[in-house]
Amino acid sequence: MSEGPSKQKKPDPCSFVIFGATGDLTHRLVIPALYNLAASNLLPDNFCVAAVARKGVSGADMRNSLMDGLRKFATRPVDEEVAMRLLACVTAIEADVKDPASFDAMRDQLDKVEDIRGTRGNRLFYLATPPNAFLPIARELGRTGMLRENGTWRRLVVEKPFGTDLASARTLNAELLKLVTEHQIYRIDHYLGKETVQNILVLRFANGMFEPIWNRNHIDHVQITVDEKLGVGHRGSFYDSTGALRDMVPNHLFQLLSLVAMEPPVKFDAHSVRSAKGEVLSAIQTPTEAEALQNSVRGQYVAGRIGDADIGDYRAIAEVQPNSTTETYAALKLTIDNWRWAGVPFYLRTGKALCTKRTEIAIKFKQAPFAMFRDTQVDRLSQNFMIISTEPTEGIELQFNTKVPGPTINIDGVEMKFRYKDYFKAEPSTGYETLIYDCMIGDNILFQRADSVEAGWQAVQPFIDAWKKAGAAGLETYKAGTEGPARADELLARDGRSWRKLG
Ligand code: BG6
Repeated sequence: MSEGPSKQKKPDPCSFVIFGATGDLTHRLVIPALYNLAASNLLPDNFCVAAVARKGVSGADMRNSLMDGLRKFATRPVDEEVAMRLLACVTAIEADVKDPASFDAMRDQLDKVEDIRGTRGNRLFYLATPPNAFLPIARELGRTGMLRENGTWRRLVVEKPFGTDLASARTLNAELLKLVTEHQIYRIDHYLGKETVQNILVLRFANGMFEPIWNRNHIDHVQITVDEKLGVGHRGSFYDSTGALRDMVPNHLFQLLSLVAMEPPVKFDAHSVRSAKGEVLSAIQTPTEAEALQNSVRGQYVAGRIGDADIGDYRAIAEVQPNSTTETYAALKLTIDNWRWAGVPFYLRTGKALCTKRTEIAIKFKQAPFAMFRDTQVDRLSQNFMIISTEPTEGIELQFNTKVPGPTINIDGVEMKFRYKDYFKAEPSTGYETLIYDCMIGDNILFQRADSVEAGWQAVQPFIDAWKKAGAAGLETYKAGTEGPARADELLARDGRSWRKLG
C-alpha cells in the first residue's frame, strides 16, 4: 500500500540489537514477533540478533531463556526448525550503561559478529528497556559511533512511554535528535500494529461513500473507548506514578483519534500521513483549568468482582501508595478546532478493572433531519452509529433503522456487521510483526514523529496539571467489574448524550 519501500521483499541484511533482552517485553512480544516473521520468511537472509545483557549471561543461557519465552508466548504452534534457525542467529553481548568501556567492547564484538553473518553494518537498536535507560543507552551508542550511517543504516527503536509529560517528551526528543536524525528514530505505539487501526485509513480513504459525510455536518459526536478488565497487577510502582491518562491517552487513544479525525493526506507516505496526524492533534483545543476539570472524570477502583475473580482495592496493590490519588480510569471531552470538526465533541474513556475488555471507536451520526414517521408507533428512532472495534472482535459495524415486518410502520434499529475473521484468514500475531518488519525495511509510516508525540502531550497537559492541583478532590471511586465511575455518564448526559453500553 505504501509508496515507501516494498512490503513484499525481504529486508536488507541487518543486525537486530536488543537492549533489555532478558526482560518481559523481549520474551513476550519481540521474540514471538521475530519468530512469526521467520515463519513467514520475512527476515533478512543475512541476519543476527545481538541480545544485550549485563555481565554473566552466556549465549546458551540467553538462547534457552528466549526459547522458553517463545514456547510460552508464541501466537501459533512453534515449528522447532524455524525456532532453531532463529535462535541460531542469537548472540549474547555484554553492555552496561554504568560501564562505558563495555559499549566500546560491544562495538568491536558487533563488528566481528557482523563480519561472520554478512549483515553489512546495518543495525537496528531496539530499546526494550525501562524509559530511564533510553537516553543513557542512546548516548553511549552515539559516543562509540554506532549510530553513524556510513553507507549503512542505523535505526533506533524506542518503546513507550515517550516522556511523562510535555516537558520531558520535548527534552527526550531534543536529546535524541542530537544523536540521530528524525528518520533514524522509530517510536513504537503498539496500537499502530493492529490491523483494525491501520484499516481506519483504508476505510476512510479507499471508499468513496464515507468521506463526504465525515464531518460536523453529519457526525454528532465520536466516542473512543479503550476499557480493560485487567487490573494493575504487579505493575504497581510504574502505574502509580503514571495513571490511566498518561499510560493510555496521549499514545494509544490519540492514535485512534488522529486516524479518525485527520485530513486526507496528499500521499500515502510517512511524511504526509504523519503530518496530517500531527496537525489534527495540534488542533485539539487547550482547555483552561476550570474547563479541564469540568470536561474530565477520573476514578480509582476499589474492591469488586470481575467474572469469578475477587479484585482488591487499587490502593492495596504492592508499591501503590496507600493514599494514592492516581487514576485508574479517565474520561475526557475534547474538541478539535478546525473546519471539519468544530462543534463535534470527542469523548474518550479508558480504565482498568472494568466489566469488559473493549476497544472501539463509535461514530454517532446525526438524526435524520425530518421526523417523517412521527404519527406512527415510532417516536424515537434508534441511533445511527458506525463502530470500528479491535476488541473483543476486530471489525466494523453499522447501526441503522429498519421497518419491522408487519402491517403497521414500526421501526427498529438493526446492525450490519463486518468481522475480519469471517472474511480473512489471518495468522494470529502479536501486532509487533508489522512494526518490526517496517523498521527493517525503513518505512516509518506507522511510527510516531516527534511533533505528534509532543502534540499529544500538549493536549493532555492541561488535564495533568488540573488533576495534580486538585489532588484528592474530584477523584471518584468505582467498583472493580463495573463500567467505571458514575460521573463519566454525567459527562455525556450534560450534553444530552450517553456512552454506548459496555457489557
Ligand atoms: C500498554 C499499557 O501500553 O497498553 C497497558 O501500558 C495496557 O497498561 C496496554 O494494558 C493495552 O494494550 P492492548 O493492546 O491490550 O489494548
